[in-house]
Amino acid sequence: MPKHKLAVLASGNGTNFERLAQACQKSEIPESQIVCLIADRACGATSRARRLGIASFVLEPKKFPDMESWSKALLDSLKKQDAGLILLAGFLRKIPPALIKAYPAKILNIHPALLPKYGGQGMYGRRVHEAVLASKEIETGVTIHVVDEEYDHGPVIWQEKIPVLPTDTPETLQFRIHEIEHRAYPKAVAFYLKHISQKRAPLR
Ligand code: GAR
Repeated sequence: MPKHKLAVLASGNGTNFERLAQACQKSEIPESQIVCLIADRACGATSRARRLGIASFVLEPKKFPDMESWSKALLDSLKKQDAGLILLAGFLRKIPPALIKAYPAKILNIHPALLPKYGGQGMYGRRVHEAVLASKEIETGVTIHVVDEEYDHGPVIWQEKIPVLPTDTPETLQFRIHEIEHRAYPKAVAFYLKHISQKRAPLR
């Protein structure tokens, strides 16, 4: 039985989710298994979960009477799978306070920019790279951080930088950032499990 049970939350294509699943399988993230994928809509990530044989749940907020019921359903699904660490991989909803309380410092997020720059509500995908180019930044990158109650906010555990080239477009930046993310997220999760989570209450 793996020591660490990980859950991934996603809203999009799910390339980071698939890479994390592969990293668990290859023990790049030691003694870990992805026990479920939770999405807020049917998306690429849910198709990938089916193909990979990973349990997946689609919890669409509009199908719940209010956000509190949605938050409870989210928490119930995570508990049912006995998830100990939650990894956001392109999940575009704000994490409800009840979830942050139930998983203190055990929710990580990846963001395609050097936070605190270019984060926050509405800052995802191509928009982030457009903003970086519009501001004539000379570098951008990837941030992995512990999640708190604000969008794209909380203690940073991993950052990698790349130069912005004069020829870059939002698409070329997105492509290069994705490559970095696929390498960095598994490393950051392994680092977090080895050095940070142990200093807190043990993961379930
Ligand atoms: C990733 O680039 C991730 O950093 C970003 O969504 C993308 C998901 O890609 N997350 C955010 O922007 C969070 N604010 P994927 O679906 O191919 O893994």
